[in-house]
Amino acid sequence: MSLINENFLELEDSYLFSTIAKKVSTFTSKNPDKKVIKLGIGDVTRPIVPACLEAMHKAVDEVGTEQGFKGYGPEQGYQFLRKAIIENDYNTRNIEISEDEIFISDGAKCDCGNIVDIFGKDNKVAITNPVYPVYLDTNVMSGRNLTYLPVTAENNFIPQLPKEKVDMIYLCFPNNPTGTVLNREELTKWVKYAKENKSIIFYDAAYEAFIKEKDIPHSIYEIEGAKEVAIEFKSFSKTAGFTGLRCAYVIVPKDLKGYTKNGEQVSLNKLWNRRTCTKFNGVSYIVQRAAEATYTEEGKRQIRENIEYYMENAKTIKEGLEKAGFVCYGGVNSPYVWLKTPNGMKSWDFFDKLLNDIAVVGTPGVGFGDCGEGYFRLTAFGTKEATSEAVERIVKLFK
Ligand code: MLT
Repeated sequence: MSLINENFLELEDSYLFSTIAKKVSTFTSKNPDKKVIKLGIGDVTRPIVPACLEAMHKAVDEVGTEQGFKGYGPEQGYQFLRKAIIENDYNTRNIEISEDEIFISDGAKCDCGNIVDIFGKDNKVAITNPVYPVYLDTNVMSGRNLTYLPVTAENNFIPQLPKEKVDMIYLCFPNNPTGTVLNREELTKWVKYAKENKSIIFYDAAYEAFIKEKDIPHSIYEIEGAKEVAIEFKSFSKTAGFTGLRCAYVIVPKDLKGYTKNGEQVSLNKLWNRRTCTKFNGVSYIVQRAAEATYTEEGKRQIRENIEYYMENAKTIKEGLEKAGFVCYGGVNSPYVWLKTPNGMKSWDFFDKLLNDIAVVGTPGVGFGDCGEGYFRLTAFGTKEATSEAVERIVKLFK
């Protein structure tokens, strides 16, 4: 008799975005002539930028030759990409990261989910509410205790330090789903808390490139001492169009320590490296060459264009809906707009109304946690035309 991991029975039946995809597919099969506009899951619509395409074509030709063929690569990623990351994402912000602190992966979602492997079951975990479901679900799967930190309009979407001691803290800024940010002063409080309590912060910076305002940290390592308390997750998905290609990275600093039950310190970098070598065979050479190309002058320019394009959409959503009387948050330093549903409608009722009446798909706020009830998330990752049309349809529906 094979026993199951019963923690899985504690999960919601279906992952949020799978539930939405199913609802949309049912609607589409019943209404084949309706043009559905999808502003739900944060999947990009702009194709992979030319600099990356060119690098991939070159890499494809290279691996087709005897001299250029690549078998298994380093599990942690090729040196050329790790070097480019250090120089461009960290040294430019006066942050020192060494190559063996970077682990190239197939996505920040996978990294955020997998990282729990190296932590004990008895850790107390703090997540915001609402929250990106991966942090919640993966800790439920491994049977950890959770503490929720509400982030709502009432506290300006700033999570307050927990009253009880927690060991693992998930912070995502710019935030998914609320689109809001944390300034330097607020982030410093968390680093201080983690130091005092020997906790670890999991800092998901997947949307960092969308920050426009000054004095908003792009990396948690901009905060003094953060290398002793934080793991950082970054992604190529939303900037260079890699949601399908898959490439991301995680920084596990060598200063970072976990503890045995006896209070002995253990290097988390060493544990993560051990886990990576056992369970992962690295991202393909071709994809890593594409990721490297995001750091060329051409690549940077093309990505900037993508970001500006999406942020123009965010503006269209935010300003269009605000003009019609909606209350909106986010959308300034982030591709997500978090809106209050009109007339206190429940998030799923609003979702159903938008889908059934005007064929627009978003994400119900309550799907990210009960503090998201009465909110709704729209993504700026659609095309310009579809985004404008979606806003027009919503405005007309609630006139
Ligand atoms: C989202 O819509 O929240 C994101 O696209 C999910 C993800 O990146 O995994």
